[in-house]
Amino acid sequence: MPTMNKRSAKLVAMLLSTGAIALAMGSAVAQQAPDPAKPNPVIKARQSAFQIVAWSSGRIKANIDGQYNKDDVVKAANTIAAVANSTVAPLFPVGSDKGHGWHDTALLPDAFADSYRFRQLAITLGAEAAELAKVADGGADLPAVKAQYAKLTRTCKACHDDYRAKN
Ligand code: HEC
Repeated sequence: MPTMNKRSAKLVAMLLSTGAIALAMGSAVAQQAPDPAKPNPVIKARQSAFQIVAWSSGRIKANIDGQYNKDDVVKAANTIAAVANSTVAPLFPVGSDKGHGWHDTALLPDAFADSYRFRQLAITLGAEAAELAKVADGGADLPAVKAQYAKLTRTCKACHDDYRAKN
């Protein structure tokens, strides 16, 4: 084996470190495929997002059934609209019907098979919530607010009926 001079030794060291970077990048890419044993952060995030949606929906219902406070309804409806409009689509990467977040995912694979309809339901959720905020903010009477809230919850049910596993 020929002895290496200083220059080629340097070159080898450089190539090795580039190789090390390539390897590190390779393992970073490999890490993107979720390890089924570990909680998937995307599933965790969407389950949290739906908890926020459900909490806000409960606040609206409490207002309709009890002491009605317009501002409370507007805030809660805007929260649902913000969650629906900003985060719902990226929270459903293909293949994420398997795995767990805070608990096993309830997403059904049909959401990917019917991706157009599923997306439409997510868009409708945002639109109905925004409309509820508008109706309440405009000082509508209770029956009108109630009617719009019913439209919102019908969207929850439509999506859950087809794309969320019953437990
Ligand atoms: C576009 C479809 C869609 C709409 C619309 C929708 N959901 Fe869901 N929801 C889901 C799916 C899918 C899951 C299961 C997520 C998972 O486990 O990964 C879920 C999960 C939930 C959960 C459980 C969260 C957890 O802790 O795992 C609650 C609560 C919930 N939704 C409430 C609501 C309410 C309230 C509305 C309406 C205001 C609503 N959802 C609208 C699809 C939808």
